Amino acid sequence: MATDRREFMKVAGSAAAAVSAMSAAGVASAAESPARIKSIKAFAFDAYGTLFDVFSVTALCEQLFPGKGNALAQLWRAKQLQYSLLRSLMGRHKDFWQLTDDGLVFASKSLKLDLTPEKRKRLMEAYLSLTAFPDVKPGLEALKKQGLRLAILSNGEPRMLEAAAKSAGIDSLLDTIISVEEVKIFKVSPRVYNLGPERMKVNNAELGFVSSNSWDVNGAASAGLTTLWIQRSPGEPPEELGFTADRVVSAITDLAPLVRG
Ligand code: LAC
Repeated sequence: MATDRREFMKVAGSAAAAVSAMSAAGVASAAESPARIKSIKAFAFDAYGTLFDVFSVTALCEQLFPGKGNALAQLWRAKQLQYSLLRSLMGRHKDFWQLTDDGLVFASKSLKLDLTPEKRKRLMEAYLSLTAFPDVKPGLEALKKQGLRLAILSNGEPRMLEAAAKSAGIDSLLDTIISVEEVKIFKVSPRVYNLGPERMKVNNAELGFVSSNSWDVNGAASAGLTTLWIQRSPGEPPEELGFTADRVVSAITDLAPLVRG
């Protein structure tokens, strides 16, 4: 899993370049601050890569395209993200389900794979039941026990997020699922991150935003949220986008002790 992610970081170079291109001039570093962590009243979690393992589709990719499964899974995710950034810049929104399908079609063509309608359908359906990382359920349960309100704040289209949360057995732990479909632009637009505090009825600093994607943490910090980066691959460097996470953790189970008052 860690290897998949490391390889993905390489393949995702083009997506990362697009993110870098979007980094506005004049961003400032958010200072590391335990006081900010203590002020958290609610948490919002990124979905894909943070709660749900996007590379859990690799086994099916490999079954359908022997010898090419890993390459397909990596390129598929990279294109999905790249298209979200490109479409946001173009002002041509399409929902994340459609982008996921577009990314799959491109990745298959690029790898010269025969993506029949049946294989396409099976791979897309796999996105509705991605495996949750093992720390997700216990981590959310511990936070819930402490009375914290929990949400997903994701690029995902609402029905795909609901299906994945249900399939992972975490739907009952979430107070709400917030999708970019409310504003029809993708991360890292501040309009997306501002939805979190608005819907959770807290101010920006009181919302702890949790993501395994460093570029996502930078976007959230730029919008004034308190940020926690889950470094799922040890040694992964943070993006050079001007912000530092308020806290770096290695699992969602690390969060409850941090905010215990
Ligand atoms: C999300 C993507 C960025 O869930 O992973 O928003």
